[in-house]
Amino acid sequence: MRSFADFNGDGVGDLPGLIGKLDYFEWLGVDALWLSPINPSPNKDYGYDVSDYLDVDPALGTMADLDRLIEDAGRRGIRVLLDIVPNHTSDQHPWFSDPEKRDWYVWADRPNNWVSAFGGPAWTQKDGRWYLHNFAPGQPDLNWWNDEVRAEFERILRFWFDRGVAGFRIDVAHGLVKDELLRDNPPATRDDPPPIRRFGQRQVYNSRRPEVHDVFRRWRSIAEEYDPPRVLLGETWVLELADWAAFYGADDELQLAFNFLMATATLDATELRTVVETSLAALPAGAKPVWHGSNHDVSRMATRWCKGDEGKVRLALTMLLTLPGATVLYQGDEIGQEDGVVPPERVLDISGRDPERTPMPWNGEPKGGFTSGESWLPMGEHRRRNVAAQREDPGSVLNLTRELIALKKRLRGPYEPLPASKGGWRYRRDGVVVDLDFNGPRARIEEA
Ligand code: NOJ
Repeated sequence: MRSFADFNGDGVGDLPGLIGKLDYFEWLGVDALWLSPINPSPNKDYGYDVSDYLDVDPALGTMADLDRLIEDAGRRGIRVLLDIVPNHTSDQHPWFSDPEKRDWYVWADRPNNWVSAFGGPAWTQKDGRWYLHNFAPGQPDLNWWNDEVRAEFERILRFWFDRGVAGFRIDVAHGLVKDELLRDNPPATRDDPPPIRRFGQRQVYNSRRPEVHDVFRRWRSIAEEYDPPRVLLGETWVLELADWAAFYGADDELQLAFNFLMATATLDATELRTVVETSLAALPAGAKPVWHGSNHDVSRMATRWCKGDEGKVRLALTMLLTLPGATVLYQGDEIGQEDGVVPPERVLDISGRDPERTPMPWNGEPKGGFTSGESWLPMGEHRRRNVAAQREDPGSVLNLTRELIALKKRLRGPYEPLPASKGGWRYRRDGVVVDLDFNGPRARIEEA
């Protein structure tokens, strides 16, 4: 959101800036937008520390701007999804200093061994006791065993759904409920994948509790009260396929759940093919997987997967947009945007994620068409790669993305694997054969 398009010249992307780009989205053919959090926030974690769930951050616009966005986008057949952050609030949220709402948060007399995703213990002392923060100390975790917390979030969902918001991406969907006994996490083992080993422990008690499914069954029933039903898209950060598939429930929980096995895989034919085939097999009938290669938390796929190689970028986009299910592209993926370079004196993020968050390069002018002021993060390589230049060029990555989105809308059939040579991956959907050669690298689509 902050890096998409700045209308008022303060260097931060905003809702009016986004409204000004709806023509672009319509041209590109996307059918929904997910906005990172737009609620008021002290920005210790750039919007993921919310201080008021029922308002719009003035730095990003107004409630009237949001209404206008929903209406203008709706006229073009584009749905607007917001980001809800139910795992934790900001420590500046009035709930956190309200003595009557002490039990809305997770407190302990003594810290256990849980560690924060940003490093260090997940506990900070306040008024003689310790509060839990699975992220920064300024992001105290809510206590989802408290029925008042559950009721409050149901009210928040309804508030936005009533305004026409099409759904939510649910931040830390896997993590809301904690072990009621606050047991220590067991140590990680050598067999655990690197994202787990990184913490030195298996995060089975500070998150990923099965009771979270009760919350999502409730949320789904609320989403279904609306016409059309509102969409729940989970940030389901789990690496066990059965745990991922469980978020769909019996079609009574989330309609969409991000697949983090793909996002943590390398750009390798065998590895990606295995992720896709095992993921599809793990899903309940009718459930839609969600594929992505980039987001605001990890190095962009054009850098991480492709090291800037345009052939690989084309291959990655072809894969993401021809598999069955939903594809979520991160702004800039459509032009093959790479991570930006952020010098030490401009680093802002608590966890070093600035390079994947540098502003959208709209054109090759000095400020990249992003702002008329000073952009909050430095521009990346906007002279080399930008929307305006690629729109003109029929052979560009942007025009490929547009063609792939149009193709995606036509493909309805199941995934059928085809024989392929080493380093290759071929599959058919409907009459279309997708031929990915990771050695080339090259991606071909043949219409039968
Ligand atoms: C996941 C979000 O994507 C990330 O940006 C944020 O720091 C954490 N959740 C905490 O809210």
